[in-house]
Amino acid sequence: MKVLVTGGLGFIGSHTVVELQNEGFEVVAIDNLSNSSLDVLEGIEKITGKRPEFENLDLRQKENVQQFFKKHADISGVIHFAASKAVGESVENPLLYYENNISTLVYLLQELQAKETAHFIFSSSCTVYGQAETMPITEDAPVQLALSPYGNTKQIGEEIITDTTKVTNINAVLLRYFNPIGAHSSAEIGELPLGVPQNLVPFITQTAIGLRKELSVFGNDYPTPDGTAIRDYIHVVDLAKAHVIALKRLMDKKNQAKVETFNVGTGKGSSVLDVITAFEKVSGQKLPYKIVDRREGDIVEAYANTDRANEVLGWSAESSLEDALASAWKWEQKLRA
Ligand code: WQD
Repeated sequence: MKVLVTGGLGFIGSHTVVELQNEGFEVVAIDNLSNSSLDVLEGIEKITGKRPEFENLDLRQKENVQQFFKKHADISGVIHFAASKAVGESVENPLLYYENNISTLVYLLQELQAKETAHFIFSSSCTVYGQAETMPITEDAPVQLALSPYGNTKQIGEEIITDTTKVTNINAVLLRYFNPIGAHSSAEIGELPLGVPQNLVPFITQTAIGLRKELSVFGNDYPTPDGTAIRDYIHVVDLAKAHVIALKRLMDKKNQAKVETFNVGTGKGSSVLDVITAFEKVSGQKLPYKIVDRREGDIVEAYANTDRANEVLGWSAESSLEDALASAWKWEQKLRA
């Protein structure tokens, strides 16, 4: 089956293209290269022996989306990653986020709505929960008022998809990611943050390799065991595999509703200091860091209840925090070799 992966050269997109090709899917990747590079295609080919079909397209141009589906009329499976995803940037530039993350989703769904059947996997985020009341977080936890335009685009995206599936032949799975980290074991693909990394793990690996002087730990006065904030760090390959399983579920008509929602995490919470300790263990390097003030907008704690993903989707994370950190470190060393 031919599958469209939007944002297919991005961090999670590229790892998902690898897993799709490993499973025999024919993949067409779209990317506008705003936050990725063509080298990723080489990496995917080195890992799988197959270079996915690629189109450098900006999905914000409606005619681009229309042309694409005219050319690829046989595509009825879409995994949609393409979106802007920096929380801080979204606060500064909300319209860039609403245009890029919402209009592109609408254009894709408009092309799928006329099809006999269509399968749509959406890249959502645990951000939709805000600071959930109860840990671990279940999919029934209330979606709270978004703390950023980025988070709002994920909430709105879920609603657009839900409304559309009610009146079309589109079936969808919403995957609410926790914190994706790490890289493919081959170190042929991985995270390519532009500029100063916003996320914890790339900042750690860039500090360890000497690109950054020290890590700033954003606050150690949270109501947690060691005072630093807790997250659920999931290996990006485990996350990628969840997308293939979700797509197959829709193709095999195993879905029990037009839209199904799954938390994709490990189910374990790790504090910032836990991550630092684990990284020092796997890298054999001391990590220079200092404690600074909390970062505006950060939540205290988020980790997934993965029962539904384990029991209904039939997926569970296989890699540990240390495995993921070791793969991130191997990738960083390869990048700077
Ligand atoms: C993790 C923890 C920081 C950097 C965001 C988005 C989420 C998803 C993943 C897109 C927090 C601390 C971080 C640093 C630090 N993105 N930290 N020093 O904020 O949990 O999630 O990225 O889908 O939607 O919200 O991830 O990696 O930025 O932070 O102390 O230099 O590390 O305070 O506790 P976050 P993160």
